[in-house]
Amino acid sequence: MSVDLQSLERIPRHVALIMDGNGRWAQERGLDRVEGHKEGAQSVRAVLRAAAEAGVEFITVYAFSTENWKRPPREIDALMKLLISSLDAYERELHDNRIRMRVMGQFDRLPLPVRARLQKTMDATAHYTDHTFIIALSYGSRTEIADAAKKIAEKVKAGELKTKNIDEQTVAAHLYLPDVPDPELMIRTSGELRLSNFLLWQLSYSEFHITETYWPDFREEQFFHALEAFNERDRRYGGVRKK
Ligand code: FPP
Repeated sequence: MSVDLQSLERIPRHVALIMDGNGRWAQERGLDRVEGHKEGAQSVRAVLRAAAEAGVEFITVYAFSTENWKRPPREIDALMKLLISSLDAYERELHDNRIRMRVMGQFDRLPLPVRARLQKTMDATAHYTDHTFIIALSYGSRTEIADAAKKIAEKVKAGELKTKNIDEQTVAAHLYLPDVPDPELMIRTSGELRLSNFLLWQLSYSEFHITETYWPDFREEQFFHALEAFNERDRRYGGVRKK
């Protein structure tokens, strides 16, 4: 059954996605794992379109974790090439829907041609303010928090900040993208119940939507269903339920 977007009372400003199950999707079809990633890249495009249609402002996808560097070099190479070719394919969606693309993670660890291609798209879309597409690349949340601690320590050392004044806002202000609001909704595909070192700080109060669907099968309809499920829940923030 299709979802009537007009009937949804609350559209999350920011949706984060753990795109899991590409390998299994391919293996079940007797295909190489890379084929699963290729089909998964089409799902990213579908989600970008769906998010723009629904009025979601920020989309963050977990495309490559710090742990993913341990995968076979052939798969890493294929993922990096796919990233480059996907940016060509997404160009139209980004401009048509006025989407700004940003990257979060250890940018300097990425191969030079990948960095150059990412930079080109980031520059070409930097002026858009309607929607933002964030790709988490060579991203690990614990590293992000440790990096924030280092930056804060440097400021204390330089006398710019007092230890007694460090609070939650201070930490949040030193994460990779401090101007981006926390996601209200996190979607993980392929049924795993783990955070996998993704946005540990930012997802503290988010709703989680876990679906058995493998990422390559997660398209517009599945995204709208996740928004519908989000609407059926009541957020309490650990306080008193709103009447
Ligand atoms: C997890 O599936 C997925 C990844 C590690 C890569 C995600 C990348 C893409 C969807 C490709 C392109 C992305 C962009 C932003 C252009 P898995 O391989 O861990 O699947 P498995 O758990 O079934 O083995």
